[in-house]
Amino acid sequence: MKEAQARTVYLKDYRAPDYLIDHTDLHFDLEPQATLVKSRLKVRRNPEAINAGEKTLPPLWLDGVDLELLSIAIDGKLLPAQRYHEGEGGLTLDVETPEFELEVHTRIAPEANTSLEGLYLSNGMYCTQCEAEGFRKITYYPDRPDVMSVFTTTIVAPSKYPVLLANGNKVDSGTTEDGRLRVTWEDPFAKPSYLFALVAGDLQYVEDSFTTASGREVKLQLFTEPKNIRKCDHAMISLKHAMRWDEEVYGREYDLDVFMIVAVDHFNMGAMENKGLNIFNSACVLASPETATDGAFQRIESIVAHEYFHNWSGNRVTCRDWFQLSLKEGFTVFRDAEFSADMNSRAVKRIEDVSLLRTAQFSEDAGPMAHPVRPDSYMEISNFYTLTIYEKGAEVVRMIHTLLGPEAFRRGSDLYFERHDGSAVTCEDFICAMEDANNADLRQFRRWYEQAGTPVLTVTDQYDEASATYRLTIAQRTPATPGQTEKPPLHIPVSIGLIGADGRDLPLDDSGKTSTVLNLTEAEQTFTFSNIPHAPLPSLLRGFSAPVKLHYGYSEDQLLFLMQHDSDAFNRWDASRRLAIKALESLQAQYRDGSEMTEPAALIKGLSAVLENAALDPALVAMMLALPSAQELAEECEVVDAGAIIAARKFARNSLANALSAPLLARYQQLDQRKPYRPVADDIAERSLKNTCLGYLCATLDPSSLDLARLQLQRDENMTDVAAALGALVEYAPREEAEKYLGAFYDQWQQDTQVVENWFLLQSGSASFGTLERVRELMQHPAFEITNPNKVRSVISGFASRNFTQFHREDGSGYRFLAEQVSVLDKLNPQIAARLVIPLTHWKKYCDHESARMRAALQGIMDAGELSRDLYEVVSKSLACA
Ligand code: TRP
Ligand code: ZN
Repeated sequence: MKEAQARTVYLKDYRAPDYLIDHTDLHFDLEPQATLVKSRLKVRRNPEAINAGEKTLPPLWLDGVDLELLSIAIDGKLLPAQRYHEGEGGLTLDVETPEFELEVHTRIAPEANTSLEGLYLSNGMYCTQCEAEGFRKITYYPDRPDVMSVFTTTIVAPSKYPVLLANGNKVDSGTTEDGRLRVTWEDPFAKPSYLFALVAGDLQYVEDSFTTASGREVKLQLFTEPKNIRKCDHAMISLKHAMRWDEEVYGREYDLDVFMIVAVDHFNMGAMENKGLNIFNSACVLASPETATDGAFQRIESIVAHEYFHNWSGNRVTCRDWFQLSLKEGFTVFRDAEFSADMNSRAVKRIEDVSLLRTAQFSEDAGPMAHPVRPDSYMEISNFYTLTIYEKGAEVVRMIHTLLGPEAFRRGSDLYFERHDGSAVTCEDFICAMEDANNADLRQFRRWYEQAGTPVLTVTDQYDEASATYRLTIAQRTPATPGQTEKPPLHIPVSIGLIGADGRDLPLDDSGKTSTVLNLTEAEQTFTFSNIPHAPLPSLLRGFSAPVKLHYGYSEDQLLFLMQHDSDAFNRWDASRRLAIKALESLQAQYRDGSEMTEPAALIKGLSAVLENAALDPALVAMMLALPSAQELAEECEVVDAGAIIAARKFARNSLANALSAPLLARYQQLDQRKPYRPVADDIAERSLKNTCLGYLCATLDPSSLDLARLQLQRDENMTDVAAALGALVEYAPREEAEKYLGAFYDQWQQDTQVVENWFLLQSGSASFGTLERVRELMQHPAFEITNPNKVRSVISGFASRNFTQFHREDGSGYRFLAEQVSVLDKLNPQIAARLVIPLTHWKKYCDHESARMRAALQGIMDAGELSRDLYEVVSKSLACA
């Protein structure tokens, strides 16, 4: 990569735009090789950018990438070449009047666009992806979110594309003289260019309607390729639930006459909230009981809601610049998490989210790309669509909710939406609205936006019998991250309860409340509770009230006690987690010492009690039973020894399976009641426990257990049960038999893209099946397509981030393979290449021989040269961590 392209953008350099675009009129003539884009812009000098005593007008900068410029005209007159300069990444234009109309004609080639940014083709259908900086691949434009404009879009296309969509409401349609179709759309809400969208294809749709709280009728349409039309119901139901929920919980109504969703197969992320025209990765919207698992159903519900919620948190109120990305993403993830919690089980949703945070965000926060929720610099913004921005950002919003309480939070969000409707604002504006609506002081709390790294809390306690007082002392420390060594203390809400000897919560004060939120603001602080009758057991960080690591010297017996008695469901699960991690860590130590591994007795005892407890939510039981993933264990290690983690997990899994086989079988049989499939929380909970039991039972390799899986595989009633059975057989059945099932499964489902993606993943992520040779074979399979991110994710990322055993093979072949694929992909799709490489970037955490080989693979990518800006940023930052 050339040095010039590697420049860093800084938040401190932000300046308001010199010019505003009041109106944007776009005209598209769609052709795969040569699409003609005409844009007419009403440009006006931004009054807020005028310097005192200004004499001459500054030049106008227009972003533009991979465009063929045909002509530029100002107020109807063609601009001579000396009035503009084409440069790196855009165009500078000399300006003579403070207001003018600019007309630019450009040509682009959607068919050649494999980056999936801008306008591209997916299975013959045109679609766009403009966030964050993709609009500049469509036409010259001030492609920054603080330029908000009213858009009109006309699309002209051959009649084989009968469906022509853009943002807003359809205002005109007809045929051109040469028989092509023409449609015009108008979006009355001013928006930044990143929310622009266009779709053209031979699509079918399902339609429904929604009546808003104020009585307006909204048409809802979901567009897909004809073969998928029967997989739209769940998304449509989810959409209506989300629309109602946002009215009830946030007082937010939808604002256009139509809301459209389009499913596309080639997509870099999950989905995109373009105004009135959301575009979804097919895998995140299409589902039917025979083809999709419970996990997919729940993911669809939350992503449909997420994108819908952006209509207010993101679109009506948008970001001033990309450093503020978490303003919309953190808030919207918090909103969709609360929606899912209300629709399903609150505790289960919380546990899932915290697991993701601990596994992936904590490791990001400890790695070479660590950044604050509001970063202060970036090379390529696409690299900052991270777990930190999304998930930690949501935790930060959740903490504000916890500190203020639900009513005050709602007052704050009302003020935020009212104050900033139609504008592009900052994270600071969000916090100010929360403060102003409630007379609150979040000054110290702001550090959460500025400081990277996961804080570590160390808790000690002391009980004084004579005075019946209990003292909790909490110390906080945040480790250094790249570029940030000083970490002043954060304002951390620590929700706690105290549990008495009988297992019940003790009252914490005269009001009798049994949970309280401690405001930890200092590096070390002591909290005193009086009238505590005997030494309690603390239940700390209930509901995971802050995104931190917490250490307290719990004994195994205390953890077993919490697992049984904590009134906070999250902490009951968390106690089981701590117990499992303790057990797996001592197994790893035994493996490294070469001593014999010993049965994790306490864990077996605890899980046995949980398994027999009929009063517990089966989903919670399943989550307690599931061992922490290899990645999660790696996160806990000072130095990762992949071999030790794999051996420890395998040993623990077998011990549990053998020790608990009787209750596992009993639970399996009790739950294996066949009823019509419904993706509702209670049923999902039962299936998850049933299938967790099945997995353990098969791990015993007992022939009759494998028979259970064989039987379940044949009863193909829903994909959740089928995939679980197939997964267990692939892991534990004799090789030849497993191959036979995999082959038959493919034959049955080869027409279904989403099922085939999961079929790939099942193999690439399997410790026994997903060898490097197998992964290379899968890449030769006719259904594999290197230009399709879902396929790349299911085959290559499945191997690199889900298959610890094979990826970390001692000879380093897994690392070299990944590096090789990253280099290939970088030429096609830089965003995907930069994500794919991430497992290698954590080389520093691994023990010597693994670490050296990972780093060498990374260095190989760098040495090959000519890296995209995306990949260059990630690789160079990782290599710089000497
Ligand atoms: N705003 C999208 C989301 O909710 C993120 C997104 C979709 C995106 N497609 C993208 C980001 C492509 C970068 C590139 O959450
Ligand atoms: Zn989002």
